[in-house]
Amino acid sequence: METNLVLEQPAYKTSTFHFLWNVFRNPLDALTDLAHEQGDIARVKLRRRDLFLLNHPDFIEQVLVRQAENFIKGTSLQRARIILGEGLLTSEGDVHLTQRRALQPAFHRHKMEEYLPLMNENTHTHISKWKDGVQVDMSGEMMRLTLNIALWSFFGSAPEGTAERVGDSMKTLVRLFPLAQMPLPESARSLFPSFKEAKADLSAVTEALLQHPQTERALIHILKQNNDGQFTDEQIHSHALTFLLAGHETTALLLTWCWDMLAHHPMAQSILQAEVDSVLGNRLPMPEDIQKLSYTHAVVKETLRMRPPAWALGREAVHDCEIGGQHIPAGSTVLMSQWVTHHDSRFFDVPLHFRPERWFDLDEPLTPRYSFFPFGGGSRVCIGEHFAMTEAIAVLAIIARRWSITPTQFDLAKPKPSVTLRPERNLKVIVTRR
Ligand code: HEM
Repeated sequence: METNLVLEQPAYKTSTFHFLWNVFRNPLDALTDLAHEQGDIARVKLRRRDLFLLNHPDFIEQVLVRQAENFIKGTSLQRARIILGEGLLTSEGDVHLTQRRALQPAFHRHKMEEYLPLMNENTHTHISKWKDGVQVDMSGEMMRLTLNIALWSFFGSAPEGTAERVGDSMKTLVRLFPLAQMPLPESARSLFPSFKEAKADLSAVTEALLQHPQTERALIHILKQNNDGQFTDEQIHSHALTFLLAGHETTALLLTWCWDMLAHHPMAQSILQAEVDSVLGNRLPMPEDIQKLSYTHAVVKETLRMRPPAWALGREAVHDCEIGGQHIPAGSTVLMSQWVTHHDSRFFDVPLHFRPERWFDLDEPLTPRYSFFPFGGGSRVCIGEHFAMTEAIAVLAIIARRWSITPTQFDLAKPKPSVTLRPERNLKVIVTRR
């Protein structure tokens, strides 16, 4: 018997209220639950548009690579222009392409050889102040160290007091970033004086750094030298700000999470120390050592898997499209979460276990490619990826060569997602001279 009855799938399997309530309580759990409830593509109705969470690497690749022209950065990142201007992180289309082409050479893998001595020197000086057997605030230490490395690498100097001023302003801006994301007129923003002051101060310090004589190796110097009229002073200012903001906090958090993992996995720490002893002996890393420190590299990757500083990426669909058989209407928000995908047992065996060795087990490059995407992908992949990886490996090796780290807490630090993934409280450890 024929029937005209069409069995319709319920349009939304998860109620908006339920999802938003979960996000309010814990965004990481909210996204994980949504993926468990709905599978590879989850859909939730928001006020005016749909939100899709993509939980399969092939679908993530569709957005970041194959259909990338159809997606722009989410509105929240677009609003970060209030702080960053139209720099690499916030621009779109041809403006982005031109900027990316001009900036790429300064971040090429081979350029890292030039930044490595600065990373070494800063780390060496920084840890020479540590005292044997005392408690160290590793979150604060890594934040100060990576900021100094960023100032020296990007500007070729760090005049007295600059790191503190930049650090303070950035703390305020990151804290008040949700305000920058709200669609407020500029006049309303001035009602929040500390935001305005921090923004003005960061701008003033950046300008002073740009005027300061720079060494030939400084990234900004290279940018100015190669600038045959394509960048205005305002754009160079935006790039400098973007590198400072995007470049130092993420790497500081990565290193902090590495120390949390190593402190709680003494066997991994011993293997890493043995590798550092055999590769470096008594000296600081040279460019060819970075390749040889393969276990240290695996520790960094495993930490990026379990504690990705960038824990979710957002995009907005420009036109209607289709991903994995699902119609995505123009204007929809598409989310991809490193946190969710990196913890998916289909792609990583026992995903809650810290196992750097897993990066050796893989004979071939990861398939599917986008099961691991701590630096994003496609044309918007992080331009500082090699910089961050070189810095993380060098800093870990230099510290592990001289110091052993033990935890002050029984459990691993609890991750707290804000703009980036940070420990809920500053990470404190005990440092013991080896
Ligand atoms: C562990 C450290 C880092 C992590 C986890 C990280 C992560 C990311 C991610 C996921 C993106 C892509 C964002 C998107 O697609 O929406 C990105 C973009 C970017 N990152 Fe990083 N990043 C790190 C370090 C750095 C460093 C050291 C720099 C600068 C020196 C930097 C500068 C940038 C810039 C300028 C972009 C925008 C690139 C573009 O759109 O063309 N990042 N980063």
